[in-house]
Amino acid sequence: QMKHVFPHNIVLVGFMGSGKTTVGQYLADMSGYAYYDIDTIIEEEAGYSISEMFSRHGEAFFRSVERKTIERVSNNDQAVISCGGGCILDQRNVVCLKQKGKVVWLMAEPETLYERIKLQGTRPLIINRTFAEIEDMIKKRQPLYSVAADYRISIDRKPVSDIVDAILDLV
Ligand code: S3P
Repeated sequence: QMKHVFPHNIVLVGFMGSGKTTVGQYLADMSGYAYYDIDTIIEEEAGYSISEMFSRHGEAFFRSVERKTIERVSNNDQAVISCGGGCILDQRNVVCLKQKGKVVWLMAEPETLYERIKLQGTRPLIINRTFAEIEDMIKKRQPLYSVAADYRISIDRKPVSDIVDAILDLV
């Protein structure tokens, strides 16, 4: 059931643990848009996980695969696209994503993000990091999300359905 039609893709960005995948899937269901998860596509095409990619080939290799994947997937229409938390580190990604999409930044307090990523485990950039280190990483990236974002929404203590409704009102 198509509930909304937007003249652009909806791109979700935000730090690890901000719920881009969960929100993106739900948003795609609600809008009838196709759903693309950049990290999942990278893993499916590689045939191994992102942690494995970091440990086998390093972060720079991952970033170049990420950039090519974003470039390709951005060309879709009527798509919800969830990006990896670090996509904003490369301005070329941001330019590309904005060409056909509106960028929504899922914002959260560092405590919320830390609790979630700790529970979820397995992210290569997070393993063995203290709260202070994660908080520092979040602070460094904040200006990049801010510049990239067409819209921003705080997700702390909000159920997914409320977040999705808020995005549908915004875009
Ligand atoms: C990264 C975030 C991850 C994944 C990779 C690097 C980052 O995606 O792309 O581990 O630099 O923030 P999620 O935000 O989906 O966890």
